[in-house]
Amino acid sequence: MTMPQPDPQALAHSAVLAGRIAEAIEAAGGWLPFDAWMARALYEPGLGYYAGGAHPFGAGGDFVTAPELSPAFAECIAAQVAEWFAHCDPVVVEFGAGTGTLAAGVLAALRRLGRPAHRYAIVELSGTLRAQQRETLARQVPEALGTVEWLDALPASIDGVVLGNEVLDAMPVRVFEHTGDGTLDELGVALDDAGVIRWAARPADPGLRAALAESLRAAARTDPDASSDAAGHEAAPWPLLGPGRYRSELGLQAAAWVATVGRALRRGAMLLVDYGFPAREYYHPQRDGGTLIAHRRHHAHGDVLRWPGLQDVTAHVDFSAIARSAAGEGLELLGYTSQARFLMNCGLLERLAETTRGGAVDPGSIRTLSAVQTLLSEAEMGELFKAIAFGRGLPPMPLGFVRGDRSGSL
Ligand SMILES: C[S@@+](CC[C@H](N)C(=O)[O-])C[C@H]1O[C@@H](n2cnc3c(N)ncnc32)[C@H](O)[C@@H]1O
Repeated sequence: MTMPQPDPQALAHSAVLAGRIAEAIEAAGGWLPFDAWMARALYEPGLGYYAGGAHPFGAGGDFVTAPELSPAFAECIAAQVAEWFAHCDPVVVEFGAGTGTLAAGVLAALRRLGRPAHRYAIVELSGTLRAQQRETLARQVPEALGTVEWLDALPASIDGVVLGNEVLDAMPVRVFEHTGDGTLDELGVALDDAGVIRWAARPADPGLRAALAESLRAAARTDPDASSDAAGHEAAPWPLLGPGRYRSELGLQAAAWVATVGRALRRGAMLLVDYGFPAREYYHPQRDGGTLIAHRRHHAHGDVLRWPGLQDVTAHVDFSAIARSAAGEGLELLGYTSQARFLMNCGLLERLAETTRGGAVDPGSIRTLSAVQTLLSEAEMGELFKAIAFGRGLPPMPLGFVRGDRSGSL
């Protein structure tokens, strides 16, 4: 199956965005770090992928997320949220709510569980998505619409439960490249002689070098003393990347975001679901091409600079860095496990048995089974996607992490 070409109108839209980015490159002296490119490609007002009226979600879009696959995903999240509501205000703050399907499912399931949310705040950057979310909620949970509000920015103080499904992977990343001879570069973008935006390298700055060293030490779990020389100088841990050319990413914005939200969380929990691994797997010498990927019309490919604004661009999440960032704000790590394990701990299989009780094999139950298979299968979302939870003032061992917790791997 080949990837369909964008139509002329879409290409014209992308060209306008590329022109804006080209101006920014020139204004910055000829080079922009990749995270600046990614921020514009995804979020430039009116033009970026998530801000330009594209329809990324679902079968007719570019990718399908877990809440869109099956209502069972939201029901499992709600089971976890309901448990936390016994210990904090019954308030949810969801970041990047997509079409609003997760919000609608969680609101409805919390009501069924007898623990309705008193307030459901959505922090959404895109005006188009806000409109879509309102429409989904009005259609699916009209009785709960009055509890929903949209925020432009993070609330200063949160008592309740923070949710983010596939939000961290959409945050701009820095890209580095290590060459076997010990050179560490940062990759960004520049204009070629024809004015086309191309990859371009610069020597890595001290901030990037320090952040990478911290991540690699987490990956190697080196005793800090072991990586200092006799004079106490830190040895650069680049050899951990292996002897050849190595390119990967640093999710510094995602880590900073977790710190900011963590600081605002006075009492309650933060539950994040996304694809990624602990540092040791993220920076494994064999993963030498990194994790950056573009999605368009259900095709995944590595040409991320192509068609800015018309395709999603993401990187996997380094969950060790996310956990460090939350710990830095005094949050407790409540659990880290695979999506499959989290959903099963929250009762997914019992829910499935109820849906298919009676053994009737109708098209609806076949669709349900196939969606659950995608959520759980190791070959699809079950293992690559992880759930991680942090808390302040909550009891340990929440429902979703009672079996199969992998916090020790971070
Ligand atoms: C891949 S989509 C996931 C949407 C939805 N959660 C779902 O599961 O279908 C990523 C979303 O995260 C949003 N996002 C990224 N950074 C954000 C931030 N700092 N605050 C709020 N939303 C953000 C994007 O605008 C986008 O809507």
